[in-house]
Amino acid sequence: MNEMTIKPLTVNDLAAMKQRGEKITCLTAYDASFSALIDKVGVDMMLVGDSLGMVIQGHETTVPVTITDMVYHTRCVSHAKRRAFVIADLPFMSYSMPEMAATNAALLMQVGGAQMVKLEGARVDIVSFLVNQGVPVCGHLGLLPQSIYRLGGYAVQGKEPAEAAKILADAQALQEAGASLVVLECVPAMLAREMSTQLRIPVIGIGAGIDCDGQVLVLHDMLNIGIIKRPRFSRNFMKEAASIEEAIHAYHQAVKQRQFPMPEHSF
Ligand code: KIV
Repeated sequence: MNEMTIKPLTVNDLAAMKQRGEKITCLTAYDASFSALIDKVGVDMMLVGDSLGMVIQGHETTVPVTITDMVYHTRCVSHAKRRAFVIADLPFMSYSMPEMAATNAALLMQVGGAQMVKLEGARVDIVSFLVNQGVPVCGHLGLLPQSIYRLGGYAVQGKEPAEAAKILADAQALQEAGASLVVLECVPAMLAREMSTQLRIPVIGIGAGIDCDGQVLVLHDMLNIGIIKRPRFSRNFMKEAASIEEAIHAYHQAVKQRQFPMPEHSF
């Protein structure tokens, strides 16, 4: 595509994709080179995830990641992208109070160039505060990696009916507070399907089955270059690809054509 004809995706485009049943593709990105490549392939969104704490910095969890780290990597990604929509994570403890959340969201957007910020948990108060200041917000429910020390492990969430009902109610509350998207991590596919049907906003799944409105994977997992074991819900797209670009293209196509995730990647 000619540089002049590239139209950056907006939050309205993402909502329209849900409306017409087109799957939304997303990969994590942390630097300019991968950002340019992912964008060139046509992946719809890039998430500058605090998973960078694990795949870039070599920590065991996302907890040590700071807002300075996030702003730095978000800036690297934003500089190189043309069309993809860029979401950046608010890291652990950077949104515990509304004013703090606003200051850090401003850093991610003004310095980092993000178009939306993501935060974990049913923080309806914070989402509402940010949205009222004009900050687009993505929620994150199900498995919450920033709460790993409270959860005690990376287990599937929402298996019990009461737990599933709470996740659905939390998502509805985030939507009513003004969230534009929600990431749903490691929940049963049936729950994710119900949530994607009931919510107006797009549901982006990771380990949440085929029926979500879109999918996200950690880049290093799908390229099989992570230092920790690839989770069951991911897939090694390098296995049948001759290049990284081909692997990213295969992922993008598989999601668009509903060929990923398969039952073996779901719970
Ligand atoms: O940080 C991250 O990469 C994420 C994804 C796992 C959704 O939040």
